[in-house]
Amino acid sequence: GKYQVYVTRSDMPQCGIELLKKQCDLKVWEQASPCPRQELLKHVAGANGIYCSLTDKIDKELLDAAGAGLKVVATISVGHDHIDVQECKKRGIRIGYTPDVLTDATAELTLALLLSTSRRLPEAQNEARTGGWVSWAPTWMTGPGLAGATVGIVGFGRIGQAVARRVKSFNTAKIIYFNRSARPEAEEVGAIKVTFDEILTQSDFVICCCALVPETKEIFNKTAFEKMKRTAIFVNTSRGGTVDQDALIEALQNNTIRAAGLDVTTPEPLPLDSPLFKLKNCIVLPHIGSASIEARNTMSELTAQNILAALNDTKMPAELK
Ligand code: GLV
Ligand code: GLV
Repeated sequence: GKYQVYVTRSDMPQCGIELLKKQCDLKVWEQASPCPRQELLKHVAGANGIYCSLTDKIDKELLDAAGAGLKVVATISVGHDHIDVQECKKRGIRIGYTPDVLTDATAELTLALLLSTSRRLPEAQNEARTGGWVSWAPTWMTGPGLAGATVGIVGFGRIGQAVARRVKSFNTAKIIYFNRSARPEAEEVGAIKVTFDEILTQSDFVICCCALVPETKEIFNKTAFEKMKRTAIFVNTSRGGTVDQDALIEALQNNTIRAAGLDVTTPEPLPLDSPLFKLKNCIVLPHIGSASIEARNTMSELTAQNILAALNDTKMPAELK
């Protein structure tokens, strides 16, 4: 019979779902919210493919619950820290993800966050709306510009490079990056490879674009923030887990650094009583890095194509190896 595919929420962009429907029997979690764990464990039983997102933990327990017929897990994300990759490999389960198609969207959002944090856009809009705008004022609502600045990028993969290309157009003085290996693409934008310490001590803007892996877990800790310039702005569009969030809160409260712009936090969603929401020098966005309409549609199609290719034992367009 037809292959069974489980889709973990009802509001996945429909273009991908339509592709799957033509060839597979779909079972879809009926709500536009993450499928609760116990439900998920029940519903994946017997699935040959799982179409999931970064809010679904794909671990040993879930793979066991799915059973021996599972051939592929495809996530509508480029990040895959929610998937036990080793365990999938051990079982011969192929993994699909969505690199490239969200690079521009995520780089755009990174720049938006960088500019709105440094130029204090939410704070300024709030002043305008609440009577704080009494006249044009020469030193009011000022913040550091990108022109002439040193920008440090941690993680110089697809997204880090796309951020570097955009940042360069703002007449920055210097772009430096930290990455495990040197990247030939850096030459194109004149980005220079430095140590993590040099990123911290030299950058006016520190941008985190690296994957969350054991080596990057909480690399932005108390020591790191203390090494940054007191005028530094920190932006994170990768994963909240790269940051010791309590240390960041303290650094923002004590003006150890000037400001932070975060698209990712720990946990997600960030609880309303988080001190981060009370800080004027912090912007928190609800993990919308890839949320351009085009990117999300393409991500959904790619996720579907990954599943179809794996079920048909052919080359997946974006397989995590
Ligand atoms: C989003 O965070 C993604 O990993 O695609
Ligand atoms: C500001 O609005 C200016 O004209 O400089």
